[in-house]
Amino acid sequence: MERASVVDTLPVYIFDEINRLKYEARVKGRDVIDFGMGNPDIPTPPAVVEKLRQAVLDPRNHRYSVSRGIPGVRRELAYWYKRKYDVELDPDQEVLLTLGAKEGFNHLIQAITAPGEHVMVTSPCYPIHRFAVQLSRAVPVLLPADPESMLCEAQKALNTINPRPRTLIISYPNNPTTACVDLDFFSRVVALARENDLLVIHDFAYADLVYDNYRAPSILQVPGAKETALEFYSLTKGYSMAGWRVGFCSGHAPVLNKLRRLKSYMDYGMFQPIQIAAAVALRDCDTEVDRICRTYGERRDCLIRNFDQAGWSIEPPRGTLFVWAPIPDSVQGRLNSLDFARFLLAEAEVAVAPGIGFGEAGEGWVRLALVENEHRIKQAARNIRRALSKG
Ligand SMILES: Cc1ncc(COP(=O)(O)O)c(C=O)c1O
Repeated sequence: MERASVVDTLPVYIFDEINRLKYEARVKGRDVIDFGMGNPDIPTPPAVVEKLRQAVLDPRNHRYSVSRGIPGVRRELAYWYKRKYDVELDPDQEVLLTLGAKEGFNHLIQAITAPGEHVMVTSPCYPIHRFAVQLSRAVPVLLPADPESMLCEAQKALNTINPRPRTLIISYPNNPTTACVDLDFFSRVVALARENDLLVIHDFAYADLVYDNYRAPSILQVPGAKETALEFYSLTKGYSMAGWRVGFCSGHAPVLNKLRRLKSYMDYGMFQPIQIAAAVALRDCDTEVDRICRTYGERRDCLIRNFDQAGWSIEPPRGTLFVWAPIPDSVQGRLNSLDFARFLLAEAEVAVAPGIGFGEAGEGWVRLALVENEHRIKQAARNIRRALSKG
């Protein structure tokens, strides 16, 4: 049955090919060291799991919950912002629970964009930032991922593009480039937004994963940001709760209300025991988050050191779960990012995400997620050294 749909406008998912090759290698019994997907491998803090276990046993928690999130979890998120960033949020009007940041982001774009509207987004980017725009039949306007160039190009786009963009999507610490910013940068973004009646959506998924004494700012720390910005936060990375699907959207109340309305048509809310356990995570698990972050920091150091010895020199990131690596000099110019990812899989049994999968501007790079332990990172470095010396 022939049906035209917006889904047909989506490009082939580049990571599918790497996933297929990975699967084929594993079926042949090969031990693939997998840096491909940012899927945390560290267990969720035990106190959160225990709270879930208790809450599941209570039949009152088995009914439909509320789409916007129970008051207790929204309140804990507001306390979390106050404690960490000195940001005041009204848990009723300015905080919404989402089924992971990804779901919330998709529905937010759907709730606020009209077909044909221009939305500014960086390239490379977390793919859904761009494709949520496309799925809403809006038109992405691509900006550079480097923060300063992004700001400069956003200003140009606002001056020249018709119809004028009304939304800017950003995310720092950035997936995949690992770019980080300071609060002054966000002040300038908020100023630009206020001057141009622009909504800024900041995806703060990597808030907790920062190294070398760097502290990632929240855009909501900028005075007046709530009048022009929304921020997504997620328990996926910092609390190692990827499968639980817990995210939040906070900030600009009128736009948040649109998302709340849309979601009330879409879902009946997250399983209530998860919400109760998420509140415990936000309230009681700062130490666990520090420990999780330290583990990724140690893996980062291990990877940078051992890959360097293997002939692949990479800049250490200050934030995120990733390392963003240029294709090594010895193969640069001969292999594009997809070919290089295929090469690493075939010759070194190492899976990485090709930069092209994050947008055209990601070509020449690959992304490695720090989701393998140090022993396996060292093994990967040995395999890569062997492959590069042949390759
Ligand atoms: C920038 C960014 N936002 C959101 C997510 C997904 O968050 P969640 O698991 O809460 O949907 C990711 C996951 O890789 C990400 O990189």
